[in-house]
This record gives sequence, structure tokens and C-alpha cells, in this order.
Amino acid sequence: AYSTSVRRTEEVVKMPSSTTRDTGEGGSQLSTVSITVVGASGDLAKKKIFPALFALYYEGHLPEHFTIFGFARSKMTNEELRTTISSTLTCRIDQRENCADKIDKFLQRCFYHSGQYNSEDSFRQLDIKLKDQEAGRVASRLFYLSIPPNLFVDVARSASRGASATQGWTRVIVEKPFGRDADSSAELTNGLAQYLSEEQIYRIDHYLGKELVENLSVLRFSNLVFEPLWSRQYIRNVQVIFSEDFGTEGRGGYFDNYGIIRDIMQNHLLQMVALFGMEAPVTLDAEDIRNEKVKVLRSMRKLKLEDVVIGQYKSHVKGGVKYPGYGDDPTVPKNSITPTFAAAALFIDNARWDGVPILMKAGKALHTRRAEIRIQFRHVPGNLYKKLFATDLDLATNELVIRVQPDEAIYLKINNKVPGLGLRLDKSNLNLLYSERYNKEIPDSYERLILDAIDGDKRLFIRNDELEAAWGIFTPVLKALEEKRVSPELYPYGSRGPIGAYYLAAKYNVRWG
Ligand code: NDP
Ligand code: BG6
Repeated sequence: AYSTSVRRTEEVVKMPSSTTRDTGEGGSQLSTVSITVVGASGDLAKKKIFPALFALYYEGHLPEHFTIFGFARSKMTNEELRTTISSTLTCRIDQRENCADKIDKFLQRCFYHSGQYNSEDSFRQLDIKLKDQEAGRVASRLFYLSIPPNLFVDVARSASRGASATQGWTRVIVEKPFGRDADSSAELTNGLAQYLSEEQIYRIDHYLGKELVENLSVLRFSNLVFEPLWSRQYIRNVQVIFSEDFGTEGRGGYFDNYGIIRDIMQNHLLQMVALFGMEAPVTLDAEDIRNEKVKVLRSMRKLKLEDVVIGQYKSHVKGGVKYPGYGDDPTVPKNSITPTFAAAALFIDNARWDGVPILMKAGKALHTRRAEIRIQFRHVPGNLYKKLFATDLDLATNELVIRVQPDEAIYLKINNKVPGLGLRLDKSNLNLLYSERYNKEIPDSYERLILDAIDGDKRLFIRNDELEAAWGIFTPVLKALEEKRVSPELYPYGSRGPIGAYYLAAKYNVRWG
């Protein structure tokens, strides 16, 4: 990350600059950071947040003195929390040395406090325990709200009144979903604004913390070869694809209230589109980047019902194994029509992108797990080798693929002569495969984002106007789908998804990559 550059100091309570980032060089005895994971008994905390905090610790990114508190209603002792999280902590392959010792030291800095989310008192008690650990240092406090969104405002109120930092900064990371539509999102924004300034709110979209998503801007703006081609003049269509080879698996209760469009498209995929399509920011400053993202989002056409296809996975037997359908999840209501798959055609109505279809596809329980951006270029005008592609000129066009996961890679499909005496052409890849090029494990997106929040770097977090613009694109179609009770096309678990997605692409002369 660009962790050494921008620091934000506009939070309500200012922190002396020498203590903004405390990695142990000078001032380390004077300052500390306390991180409270609200909802610590939950799935995300265990799966992602504590492991990310530990990874930051063993790589030396956390301040010399720090404290981590888990907060939730469940009753737990410090020891029980430590036992629960220790099972999820691992050391990076290239940095295995002293792993057990590091885990032990990290756990000694982890504590637990049980309380109610809407109780100032609970947070006051937390405040006392935090102060105990902070031991008179200048303390900054980060709250990570890893709880269902209907609790965000309660926690913002109770925590800001009961447990805000008094000398350092106070910041709050908020997990998605930020509302269900434009109205509920605005309500949430206004609710949080009563207790926190925009500067204090870090709306997380973990896709922005993925290596290849962050690299999108580097690829575009630091290489001469791409930017001149990056427009309607040379690009025929763009595809942003997310697929998982497993179903909702225990998260059906949450998922049924949201569906795939809210869960993946409105945030993760749209953020990638914004970074893909934005103009060059004036600087790499968070506000400059987010200004450009907002512009491109605001130029996007509201999605229409006829440009959306939805699907839901059904059970499927393969190799004697029965894979459950979405409706078989006991936490999903009977006869649910919530989509677990969607494909959509979007458009950016500005000079750069006018008329270029941007196709999105997202689905659970498909045949493979992948997230990628595919950029298909136009045909070569007056192609001398046309005859050699007689069967399918489409196959002769260049395609740039940014594979976000798994096996991070950037590759460009080019036409190449097959070596030999005859003239035969072949489609080949110029391939940058990360695992071959970089002998280093890629940090999890939560590590990067938590570190940025500690650093006060907001370039990878969502600003409120971005959020508003994002909901503006999807809210009409979400309403139409619900009002008309549109039934999703069923697709078998482990398949390529509904046929309808292929028809939608064909309508815009696109073939899914
Ligand atoms: P959980 O459903 O596991 O909830 C986290 C904790 O919140 C629970 O352990 C529980 O703690 C408390 N809680 C849950 N439901 C209620 C309720 N109805 N009333 C009061 N307290 C409740 O959520 P996750 O950990 O899965 O996710 C946390 C947040 O992150 C959510 O906003 C989610 O949408 C988002 N998210 C999750 C992802 C994931 O992979 N899990 C991925 C991306 C985002 P206790 O009962 O002890 O108070
Ligand atoms: C979350 C969604 O935001 O992203 C999940 O709520 C989804 O449904 C997850 O599984 C995918 O994240 P990743 O990083 O595993 O691709």
C-alpha cells in the first residue's frame, strides 16, 4: 500500500502527529492504539479480522503498544476468546520463525468485554478496561463494527458517548451492507452522522483491499501502453465476473434479505468498474481518487429490468454426492425468490465510455471460483490475416484479463504466428502470473484495510457520496424485481449458471470470457 503517504488528521479529536503511526521509532512509549472488534463472537471476526490483526502484528505493522478488545453480547472470558481465535491464526510461509511465540505474545494483548450494543454503560465499562491497558499513554481508538447493520447506529451512539478516545483519534470501520437501497442507505448515513463525522467513518469494501484491484490504477496510469487504448475507441466491452463454487453455507439467513445484487454487484463489482473507468485523479490523495470514482458512478445509467437476468441454484447430484439447493438451507425461508446469481448490462454515459457494454456476472454455487475483469478490444481494422480467422473473427481480438483471484494474474491475449514454414495463427497469452513473478504471499485484503484505517488513509474506503451514487444505479431495478416478484431462473449447483445470462450478453454482441 501507499502507507507512508497521506495521513488524515481532521477527526473530531486530533492526535499529535508524532503518534499518528507508531511503529516503535520514537514516541512509542507515549502512544498506543486500541482496537475493539464489535461482534467479536461472529463469523467475520474469527475468519478475517483477528487473523488480519495477527498478521499485521507479526509483520511489525502494529504500533509497539496496542490493545485488542473483543466486544459482543455473548459471555466469554479473555482466555476463552484467546482459545477461539488462536485456532485461526497462522504465520505466513515465508515468515514461519518464532510463530508460536508470536501467537502467544499477540494473544496476551487480546481481551474480551461482554456488553449490549445499545448500552452506553457497557461501553463505559469497556472504556475503563481500555484505559487500564492503555496505561496513561496517548490512546487512539479504532472500532470495527462486525455486526448486522441494524446495530450500527446503536453502537455508534453508545461507543462515541461511552468509549471515544480523549486524546488520540477515534475511527470506526463499518462493514457492508450499507443499507438495502438508496433510502435505507441514506438513513444509515444520517444515523451515523449524528454521532460520527464522515472523517471518522471507514466504510469497508474488502475488494478494494485486494492486490489486483489496487493494482488497476497502477496498471492504467503508470504504463503508456494501456491508457491510450482505454476508451470506447478501442474497447468493445468489459466484463466483471465473480463466481463462487459454494453456496450460502450457513449465511442464508443474512443472504436471503439481500441477494446477490446487493451482496456482490452493488459494492464489490461496481467498485472495480469505478476504478476501471475513472479518469486519472489529480493526485493519489484519497479525496482526489474518490472524486474521480464518484464522477464515473454518477455517469452510469440506472440499471433497467430488461438488462438483468437473475438465477437461483437448485440441488444437484454429481458423482453420487447431493449438493444442496439454496432452498435446502434451513435458514432460508420456504419458496424464497432471492437471487443467488445475476447478470447485468451497465453503461457509463460519458465521452470515454459511451455505448460500451459493461457486463457484470455474479453467482454462488457455480462451477468455479474466480473474480476477474476482462477487457475485450475491437477488431483490427482491415485485418490482413482475416482469412485465417474465417470461422470466427471475434476470436482474433485482443483481450486483457485481470484475474483478481484465485492465482492472481494479468494476461493479454494476442495473435501469434505458429512457428514453422506455413502461416498459421495462434492465440497466445502474454502472462504475468503473480506466483511466478513474486516470491511472496499476498496479504489478505483485511490486513491492508485495517492498516490503512490505523494510518488514517482513506483511499480504499467508500465515501458517502460514492455510496449514494452506487445505490442510485441499482435501486430502481431492485425495487422492480421485488414489486414484480420476478422468479429467478433455476440452475444446478456447480453449473455455469442460467442460460439467460448468455442471451443477455448476446443482446450486446458479447460472448462471456
Ligand atoms: P454474524 O451474524 O456472525 O454477527 C456477528 C455478531 O453480531 C454475532 O456473533 C452476534 O454476537 C451479533 N449478532 C448477530 N445477530 C444479532 C442480532 N440480531 N442482534 C444482536 N446481535 C446480533 O455476522 P458476521 O460475523 O458474519 O458478519 C459481520 C458483519 O460483516 C455483517 O454486517 C456482515 O454482513 C458483514 N460481512 C460478513 C462477511 C462474512 O463472510 N461473514 C463478509 C462480508 C461482510 P452476540 O450475540 O455475541 O452479541
Ligand atoms: C462478501 C459477501 O462480501 O464477499 C460474501 O458477503 C462473499 O457472500 C464474499 O462470499 C466473497 O469474498 P472473497 O474475498 O472470498 O471473494
